[in-house]
This record gives sequence, C-alpha cells and structure tokens, in this order.
Amino acid sequence: MELPFAELYKTKMVETIRRSTREERERWLKDASYNVFNLRSSYVYIDLLTDSGTGAMSDRQWAEMMLGDESYAGASSYLKMKATIKDLFGFNDFLPTHQGRAAENVLFSVLVHEGDIVPGNSHFDTTKGHIEFRHAHTIDCTIDEAFDSTLYHPFKGNIDLDKLEKVFKENQVEKIPMVIITITNNTSGGQPVSMQNIREVSAMAHHYGSLVVIDSARFAENAYFIKLREEGYADKSIKEIVKEMFSYADAMTMSSKKDAIVNMGGFIGFGDRALYEKASVYNIMFEGFVTYGGMSGRDMNALCQGLYEATEFDYLQTRIKQVEYLADKLLRHGVPILQPTGGHAIFIDAKKFFPQIPKEEYIAQTLVVELYLEGGIRTVEVGTLLADRDPDTRENRYPRLELVRLAIPRRVYSNSHMDYIAATVCNVFDRRDEVKSGLVIKNEAPIMRHFTVELERL
Ligand code: F0G
Repeated sequence: MELPFAELYKTKMVETIRRSTREERERWLKDASYNVFNLRSSYVYIDLLTDSGTGAMSDRQWAEMMLGDESYAGASSYLKMKATIKDLFGFNDFLPTHQGRAAENVLFSVLVHEGDIVPGNSHFDTTKGHIEFRHAHTIDCTIDEAFDSTLYHPFKGNIDLDKLEKVFKENQVEKIPMVIITITNNTSGGQPVSMQNIREVSAMAHHYGSLVVIDSARFAENAYFIKLREEGYADKSIKEIVKEMFSYADAMTMSSKKDAIVNMGGFIGFGDRALYEKASVYNIMFEGFVTYGGMSGRDMNALCQGLYEATEFDYLQTRIKQVEYLADKLLRHGVPILQPTGGHAIFIDAKKFFPQIPKEEYIAQTLVVELYLEGGIRTVEVGTLLADRDPDTRENRYPRLELVRLAIPRRVYSNSHMDYIAATVCNVFDRRDEVKSGLVIKNEAPIMRHFTVELERL
C-alpha cells in the first residue's frame, strides 16, 4: 500500500471548541443582523472567517517569545527582524507596524496623493480603502482568465500587461506612483502570480517611472506555487524563489498575520533609503518609534521564527495539501468552487450555487448565512458587500464574481474538520433550490461596510 500524505507536525496544546444546535444558531445570527462578524467566536464551531492572525504558533515561536527584548529603542528583537528581512527579502531597511493595513497607511502617506491612480491585481479591500481614502483610484488589471471560475490557469493572480500598459498610456505617469502586486491574490481567489509576471510588471512599471510594491501577506504560498507550476523553479528552494520575487520590488507591505504565522504584526520593507526615511516620520506618528512601530519585542521574535518556518517546503506542502483535500471533496460532490484552488482558502462561486437569487440580494452573503445555520461554520463574503459602493456615484459595485471564502487557518484544524466542513457545504448544496431569496441592508458604514453592515432576510 502506498503510504498516504500526513501532516508534518503534531499537536502539543489544544483548545476546546463546541457545537451548537440549529435553533441556537438561528437566534444568534438574527441577533447578529446576519453579519457573521457580529457573532461571538464561541457561537462558531469551525471558524473559516479568515486565515489572518488565526494560525497556531510553533513550539519554537513560543520559545522565541521568551527571548523578546522590550526596550523602546534599538531592541535586539528589532535587530533580529532587520536581519531576517534582509536575509529573506533582500531589503536593507524596514519599519515594523502593528498589522498589514498599518503598513499600507504609513507607506501610502508618502506615496499616494489626491487624483493618483494605482494599478494592480484585485487590490485587497484595506489596500483599496487606504487609496480611496486619499481620493485616489485603483485600477484592477488582473488577467481575464481569473474571472472564469472553472478555467485552469496556473497563475490566475497575474497582471495583464496590456491592461497595465493602457493605464500608463492613458494617464499622466506622474499620477501613477506605484503598481501593487498582491501575492497571492486574495480577492480573486488566493491565486498565485508567476515569477515571469512579477518580472515583466516590474520592468514595465520601472520603464514608466513607477515603483513596484508587493502586498506580501501570502508570499510564501505564492513561492510554493511557483516551485510547483513554473518552468525552471522545481529545483529551487522556497527561500531562493522568495529572494528572486522581491528582487523585482521597490518595497513590500506585509501582514505578518498570514505567512509569518503570528497573531498580530506587520512591516514595510524598503529597497530605497530615501523612501524609508520619509515613511519613518509617519511610522513614528501612527505606529510607534521606528524600532518597534506597534509591535512588542516578543512578537517581533515570534514573527522572525514564523517567517523562517513559513518558507520551509514541508510546512507549505502540509498547508496547501489540506486546502486541496477539502477542495477535492467539494468538487466530487459537484459544488462550484474556484479552480484551481489557491493557497489559503476555498472560494465557492455563489452565483453558480444560487442562480435563482438576484445580485441585488447579496448572493454570496446569503450562502454565508446558510453555511452557518447548517453547520456552525463561519465563512466570509467576497462579493457585493465587500466590493462596497463606488466612492463617486455611491452605487453598489457588482463584482464579476460573487464568492464565499472558506479561509483555512494555518496548523489549526485537522482533516476531520475538513470532512465536517465538506458535509456542511454539500448539505446546503443538496437543498439549494429551497433557498428562494436573499438579504437586504438595514444599515451600513460609508467605507468598508462589510465589517459592520446590518442585514435582514427577505
Ligand atoms: N493585503 C492582503 C492581501 C490581505 O489579505 C490583508 C488582510 C491585508 C493586506 C491587510 O492586512 O489584516 O494585517 O491589516 N487580509 C485579511 C483576510 C483580513 O481575511 O484576508 P491586515
């Protein structure tokens, strides 16, 4: 018998979780105004809301916590982080921040001005939020293949070079401070960007005098896909691939809550000393002094260890195989999911799941509600709620894909949990015709409404 693949770690500490009844969930969700962000975590059996800050740290990361240096200035933990970032990404300078969006806030305070245009591949919502907050615009240049949920393409996160060139040709180049490459591309399905694409986008941006900033939250997962799918990289280590990816960038923003496997933290990496110096002013104002910027020493230590672990092939293989394990079960049952599966999550194509629900009734959120009621699993909408309103017209923006994301936390759930999740989704799929209508908004915030929106069932 061929030996099966099994996780390349074992458990040393556990946390109890509890199931609930459908009646309880009906009540809790109504009280939460059909917004799962409003649910207590104790009302959730399996939490797939996000893979951000929800990972399990290793014994070595916990050991590093004990060695943290909490000095205000010049802590050894800061120097460790500086050396780690230089070693892995090649950047000489960095600023610690409390999380990824804080890194965006600091960097964009220098780079983004009113009327600017920032092209990229499906910018993440906080990235877009920080750009639009400065009265600037984003342009999504993701390849068209990304919007066909069943088409196989090895790098659906790629930027379309023709679309990007059009942005440069049709606008004043001084209005385009940077191109943002998000690896992996979360919004369009956790899809990777190829090395070739990063190289070519970088060459084009630099040709027109723009910077290249990599939104790096899931950079290690991106490197894993390059190793497996891109010609010429099979024999390279993850760390070698990471080094090359970032050699094409001028700066990186990082949410360490993903591929640094810590619960909180972020940073900005800089290739340019002058940019670092300008950003330092904002870091001190918003985050903290340049040698801690919103992080404690122990957290910086755990982050460094996490970065080294996340760039180990064995870790990445265990993680991404678990995502594939769940995907296989859903596909065998005919559930419409985005293919190929990305690194951190399964994305269900809600328009195909519930073709009977009109887009004005928040199709993907309707599926989020059904999945919670069925099995107590918490997922997240990546559809019209998240796409928010157009800042100028205030009309709903209807994205091409209405997705429900099942984000898999790192090193947290077992494959039995994956079996339970699959059964939950399949049960809802089997009775999908019984769901006749969706939801209506009762209350919403003017920006990033999905976090606090209140809804009612129709
Ligand atoms: N960029 C990407 C690609 C992200 O996925 C996120 C966060 C951020 C930036 C912002 O980082 O949360 O540390 O401030 N994504 C989380 C998610 C929230 O659930 O996908 P942050």
